[in-house]
Amino acid sequence: MSSNVNKKNTQDKEWSVDSWRKLPIKQQPNYPDSKALEDVEQRLEKQAPLVYPTEIDALRAKLGEVSQGNAFLLQGGDCAESFAEFNDDNLRNYFRVMLQMTMALMYGAGKPVVKVGRIAGQFAKPRSADTETIDGVELPSYRGDMVNDIAFEEEARIPDPERLYKVYQQSASTLNFLRSLAKGGYASLSNVNQWNQEFANHSAQGKLFSDLVGRINESLGFVRALGVHLSDISQIHEAEFFTSHEGLLLPYEQALTKQDKDSGKYYCCSAHMLWIGDRTRSLDEAHVEFMRGIANPIGMKAGPSMQTDDLIRLIDALNPDNEPGRLTIITRMGAGKVADHLPALLKRVKEEGRHVVWSCDPMHGNTVKSPNGYKTRPFNDILSEVRQVFEIHKAEGTYAGGVHLEMTGQDVTECVGGAQAISELNLKDRYHTHCDPRLNASQSLELAFLIADELREN
Ligand code: PEP
Ligand code: CO
Repeated sequence: MSSNVNKKNTQDKEWSVDSWRKLPIKQQPNYPDSKALEDVEQRLEKQAPLVYPTEIDALRAKLGEVSQGNAFLLQGGDCAESFAEFNDDNLRNYFRVMLQMTMALMYGAGKPVVKVGRIAGQFAKPRSADTETIDGVELPSYRGDMVNDIAFEEEARIPDPERLYKVYQQSASTLNFLRSLAKGGYASLSNVNQWNQEFANHSAQGKLFSDLVGRINESLGFVRALGVHLSDISQIHEAEFFTSHEGLLLPYEQALTKQDKDSGKYYCCSAHMLWIGDRTRSLDEAHVEFMRGIANPIGMKAGPSMQTDDLIRLIDALNPDNEPGRLTIITRMGAGKVADHLPALLKRVKEEGRHVVWSCDPMHGNTVKSPNGYKTRPFNDILSEVRQVFEIHKAEGTYAGGVHLEMTGQDVTECVGGAQAISELNLKDRYHTHCDPRLNASQSLELAFLIADELREN
């Protein structure tokens, strides 16, 4: 791969890795020292890619299968990764829950589940206000560890470009550990019993999962009895896991974009998949410009303000060849709005014959403030949005291809409800998120089982 000076044409308009720089851009930090930013960009350009183009192509092909209805997408992880919460226990617990959810969903859907983490790069946050005021003191908003520090102090909130480099390093370590979990034996189905140890005895989800493990082991025993050597089948002893994040800070994304010598295509090698947030998806602005030229599979959030005409224009800009798997539309309407907004989008895209993956983010439209001041999300609203989305797709004859969740493997108390019945009074107990409230391990698995029931019925 070579670095990124050449230009190419996409859809008549010329594109280059830095063509976004001429356009308006939203949600960016104001770095006090632009030289320091340039210095970090140059150092990042020299770093090894975090992911390789062949892997990016593999995810694109798998999402193609999702868009055709042959597979299901599970995308999930922290709202915002942080430097403070980076450790092997957190990573292993997260990965374990993703695997457990995958098993539940596979059993429900009877289809492969494509696993994509919001991880190894998910550090930058769009914010609804540029500043935050506490007790009359106004400071710049926290924009994620990739930009500034969460502490409410003047010095801490100054954007520091050195953080981009730190994100690269933590993402490299994260990815290295996830790859060893995925390929080194931990994810093997022969270990499926172990994944459940902490859960099994003290939660309803643990018991459900134990039953599932029993069925999986029975099936494996049967296949073994046929004389098949399970050790020869990579799907049984390895997991395939991909990474994604919101591609918000384009200096970082550009620095990690490489041109593939063989194909001439540009790959953003910071993650397999990048998505465009609901607040930065304007057609003639920088984020859409950057994303249209890279070969990665792209996600785009669609909230209640998305209009059908704009959606078609955005699809044409981002996926001009109408390739299945290139574009995932992640709808995030909210339980109270989805029935009003989703049907028209599905109808129009179907009428126009565009191939997209439709994924449901039931988190971002369902955030509320609890009386004691915590941002939270009621489990029932999350579930309600997912259920309505399945129903609406069924009615429109389209395929609900995946879910996009904010979740963690830790036992936090951030979302209210679920079988654990976390109440508003419990929120203060273990509220650790650096941004939005996440489903904890038990709530995540509970939701996966409930989605599996929907998939089975559909
Ligand atoms: C997010 O996914 O964390 C996010 C900010 O989402 P949205 O762009 O949909 O608001
Ligand atoms: Co979020």
